[in-house]
Amino acid sequence: MLKRGLSFLLPLVGLHFFIDRFHPIYNVPELDEDDYYGNGSVRADEDIISDFKISFDKDTIEDLKRRVKDGLKRQFTPLENNFELGVNLNYLQNISEPFLNFDWRQHQYFLNTFDHYITEIEGIGIHFLRMNYPVKPGQKKFPILLIHGFPNSFWDFYKIIPVLANPSRFGYDFGGKNTIVFDVIVPSIPGFGFSEKPSKSGVGFVECARIFGKLMSRLGHDRYFIHGSSIVGSQVGSALAAIQPQAIMGLHMSDPYIDVTSSWLFMAKYYWSRSWASFVHYEYSSGLNLHESYYDRPDTLSVAINDSPLGLTAFLMDRWARGTSQNFKTHAQGELQTHYTVDELLTEVYIYWLTGTFPTAARFLYYSRNHPLGSQFSRATIGIPTGIINFPQTPHQMPYSILKLKYHNITRFVEASNGGEFAAIESWKKLSEEIFSFVELVTL
Ligand SMILES: *[C@@H]1O[C@H](CO)[C@@H](O)[C@H](O)[C@H]1NC(C)=O
Ligand SMILES: *[C@@H]1O[C@H](CO)[C@@H](O)[C@H](O)[C@H]1NC(C)=O
Ligand SMILES: *[C@@H]1O[C@H](CO)[C@@H](O)[C@H](O)[C@H]1NC(C)=O
Repeated sequence: MLKRGLSFLLPLVGLHFFIDRFHPIYNVPELDEDDYYGNGSVRADEDIISDFKISFDKDTIEDLKRRVKDGLKRQFTPLENNFELGVNLNYLQNISEPFLNFDWRQHQYFLNTFDHYITEIEGIGIHFLRMNYPVKPGQKKFPILLIHGFPNSFWDFYKIIPVLANPSRFGYDFGGKNTIVFDVIVPSIPGFGFSEKPSKSGVGFVECARIFGKLMSRLGHDRYFIHGSSIVGSQVGSALAAIQPQAIMGLHMSDPYIDVTSSWLFMAKYYWSRSWASFVHYEYSSGLNLHESYYDRPDTLSVAINDSPLGLTAFLMDRWARGTSQNFKTHAQGELQTHYTVDELLTEVYIYWLTGTFPTAARFLYYSRNHPLGSQFSRATIGIPTGIINFPQTPHQMPYSILKLKYHNITRFVEASNGGEFAAIESWKKLSEEIFSFVELVTL
């Protein structure tokens, strides 16, 4: 009996240790150095960097508000009271009031207090913000590339940009040691915000990584840090670290995501640790639960969303609520206003509407998920120093045991005590502290 039990158990224990210790290196796939996504036929990029200001006229804003008013007349009566079946229509109705009173000119003025630029890369005008102060004695300055997620934009980083660029103003002096400051560069992903929409298909996280690498070179940076937020930000950042490891001093991410289906080992480990976790009554949410129809056939939904500001608001709010709290469904406002100001939410909605970028953002997700090199990039081993912070309310949270299979050099791993996926806005202080701590650790 004992013998039979052992003969059953030993291979299992062996398998556990094998899976736990086995860290093969997955190579980075070959990627073309160049491509062209502008309209018309291929031509060389104009490598000038131009100043850029956000500017929408009164008519565009009035058109938007008229559509909101008209849209409200067409809404149906909800049968549920919270976010059970999607956005709570009572909440949508309520938020339409600040929506209609939203002073875009004032917000546009604020957005334009940042320095914006645009430059052409692979035929696409790439928009970016940059905040860069001259170094003072005793300061060490490093360039850092901040990469936003979906459904978000550069707006994610409005709070942490000044903290990273001018930390002493915010009390980050590290007790008299060399103070770290950053030359902060925040591009908009192609097809998001004020970056141009690609005129050709196929721009996903891999192409974006290559384009952002070219942007950093054009700015004269051959060594820099990366921070990538959530699924899209971490995928782009990791792909860039994979194709140009010599340029990346360190890769920092909040709530990184790995497509575990990209490797049998990741899968085995994932299911192994999941069943182990449920065995000891500890649950973490499924990173595989990301299948949603808008990823698969994005253009159909995009027609409706791009036609209706209320539809856009509903989509964004529902997605943000899901990333913000695991209890969002049973809360009348999806907990959104517990974690963000109405202004923060509406500014993002306005950016998506005014730029008309929902369709291209949704396409970006499609091309990322269906990329011919997607699996190879998802599993490609990253050997450069990596810092990770996971926020507990994030639906796609990846446990350390999976992360270490891809990131072989995790120098700092932190599990925050609260907060969700949109950490740069909600947990801006914690996130900036983490970035400083990671960079300090790597550059000491
Ligand atoms: C590129 O797009 C612009 C704006 O839509 C258009 O005016 C122009 O004719 C296009 N050029 C080519 C070569 O298709
Ligand atoms: C909507 O506003 C009304 C009136 O201020 C308030 O009583 C209600 O709780 C709000 N509902 C939601 C879901 O925000
Ligand atoms: C991790 O990064 C450090 C610092 O760059 C480096 O010295 C070390 O060799 C790396 N380790 C691995 C396993 O790549």
